[in-house]
Amino acid sequence: MYTLRTIPVSLLLSLAMLLSSTASAQFLQTSTTFSERSGSDVDTLVLLVPAGMDSPRLSGWNDRTANQLRRTVAATEFEGDARQKVEILAPAGLTVERLILVGVGDPVELARHDAELIGADLASHINATAARSVEVNASLIEDQALNAGITTAIAHGVDLRNYRFDRHFSDPAPRPSQQYHYRVRSQSVAEQQYNQLRALAEGVFHARELTNLPGSDGYPAAFAEYAREVLEPLGVTVTILGPEEVLEAGMGSLYGVSQGSQHKAHLLLAHWEGSDDQPIALVGKGNTFDTGGYNLKTSSASILRMQTDKAGAAAVVGAMAALAGQQTAVNVIGVMPLSQNAISGEAQLPGDVVTAGDGTTIEVANTDAEGRLILADGIWYAREHYNPRAIIDIATLTGAKVGALGSDYSAVFTEHEDILATMREAGELTGDRVWQLPLGPYEGIIDSRIADIRNTGSPGAQAGAIFLQHFAGDTPWLHIDMAGNAFIDNPSGINPEGGTGYGTRLLTEWTRIFAAQ
Ligand code: BES
Ligand code: MN
Ligand code: ZN
Repeated sequence: MYTLRTIPVSLLLSLAMLLSSTASAQFLQTSTTFSERSGSDVDTLVLLVPAGMDSPRLSGWNDRTANQLRRTVAATEFEGDARQKVEILAPAGLTVERLILVGVGDPVELARHDAELIGADLASHINATAARSVEVNASLIEDQALNAGITTAIAHGVDLRNYRFDRHFSDPAPRPSQQYHYRVRSQSVAEQQYNQLRALAEGVFHARELTNLPGSDGYPAAFAEYAREVLEPLGVTVTILGPEEVLEAGMGSLYGVSQGSQHKAHLLLAHWEGSDDQPIALVGKGNTFDTGGYNLKTSSASILRMQTDKAGAAAVVGAMAALAGQQTAVNVIGVMPLSQNAISGEAQLPGDVVTAGDGTTIEVANTDAEGRLILADGIWYAREHYNPRAIIDIATLTGAKVGALGSDYSAVFTEHEDILATMREAGELTGDRVWQLPLGPYEGIIDSRIADIRNTGSPGAQAGAIFLQHFAGDTPWLHIDMAGNAFIDNPSGINPEGGTGYGTRLLTEWTRIFAAQ
C-alpha cells in the first residue's frame, strides 16, 4: 500500500509549496506556517527572548542544553534587548544545527516596526547559512495578544527582506527556498494577523517590481497592464485612458511630457470601493523614465536609475493591492498619470506653454520638472471625477528634497493638521518616515511672465509642492516628495537592494487610519 510514509519528503515538500503558492509565489519562495506546536525537521531554532530573563529555557530541554545556554548568555552578555542576537552551533542536547537567541526587549514596549526589523535582521542572517527549515519559537512571550502581534510582525519583516528582483538573471541564484514555522500561543489569531500583513507585503512587492522595471520594459502602457493584472483579480476596478483620451479630456500638461516619446501618456485609474463613503484619492507620479527631456540629465549619475521615477505610482498600485487584499472598508481611488520623459523632434521644448485639464496655462520653464506637470492633471482628474474628501499625492519629485532630508524621510507638505497627524502616525507605525516642510510664505515663486504659472521656482522642493497645491484647490491635500526613498544600492533593514516600495505601507495604513476617524 502506498502510505504517506513511503512518499519521499522532497515530493511532499514540493507538493506543499505548490499548494501554498498564490500570486505571492512569484516573489517569495518561503513557506510560512503558524501553529501551537513545533515544526518538523527543523534545522534552525530561533528562540524569541524577552528582556530580563536570567536563563531562557524551553520546557523539554535537558540540563546540558540549559547549561550551555546559561554559559552562552553570560559569555555574550545577552540580555534579550530588542535586536540582540546570539547563535549557538550544534547546541548540546538538541537535534537542530543551530539555535539562535533573538532579543525582543520588553514585549509591551516593542513597536511593530522594530519587530519587523528583528525579522529582517533574522532573514538576512538565515540567508547566509544553509538553514532550510526554521522554527521561530515565541513560547517565552506569554501574553497572547503580544505573542501574536510580535510574531506576525517578525514574519512580515522576514517576508519584506526576502523579496528579490531577479527576473533579468539568466541563472538566478536560488531564492531563499526555506520553511519558516512560527510556534505561537494561538494559531488562529496569528494566522488572521499574518494574512493581513501578507497582503500588505504583496503590495510592497508589486511596488518594488514596478519601481525596478527597466525603462524600456516599464513604459506607460506596460505599467498600466501590470497594474490591471494585479488589481482586477483583487476586485479593484481598473480603467486605462490612452494618449488620445488624455488629449481629448484636455490634459495637455500630462500629455506634453511624453509627446516626443514613442511611449505616450496614459492615465491609470484604480478604484477600490470597500465602502460607500466619499472617496479618498491617492495620486502617484508614474514617470516611467526621466531623461530630463531637452533639459537633458547630462551626467551619468543623474540619469542612471531614472526608471525609478515611477515609484510614486508604484506605491499607489501597491497600496491599492494591499487595501483590496485586506478587504479594507474604505472607498479609495488611485490615480496614476504615466509618462516617459524622452526627447525627439516632437518633444516638448523649454519655454513651451501647455494647458492643463483645469484650464491653467503653464510655462514649461524646464522640461526636467515633468513630475508636477503630469501630477497637475492627475490631481485635477481626481477632483473633477471623484470629488474626494482628501487627496494625497506621492512623487519622486525633486533633487532639492534629497538635499534637504536625504533618504531617511520623505518630505510632506500640507495645510491640513488632521491629514498631517494621521500621516505621521502611519509613518511611525510602518517606518516609512515623513518630515514636514513648509508651503509658505513663498509669494510668487511659480509666477510666470507669459502664462498663469511656471513649472520651476526656488526653493525647489517647495516650488514643486506649491505648483501642485494650485491643482488641489480647496480639496484637503497633502503632498509627499519621496525623491531618494525609492531605491537603495545595498540591503538595509526591511529592504533588499533595489526598489524599496516606500510609500506602499505608509499609504495603506494612512488610508485605514484616516478613513476610520
Ligand atoms: N525625477 C526627478 C527628481 C529626482 C531627482 C528624483 C533625483 C530622484 C532622484 C525630477 O523629475 C527632476 O528632474 N526634478 C528636477 C526639477 C528641476 C528641474 C526644477 C530637480 O529636482 O533637479
Ligand atoms: Mn525630471
Ligand atoms: Zn522626474
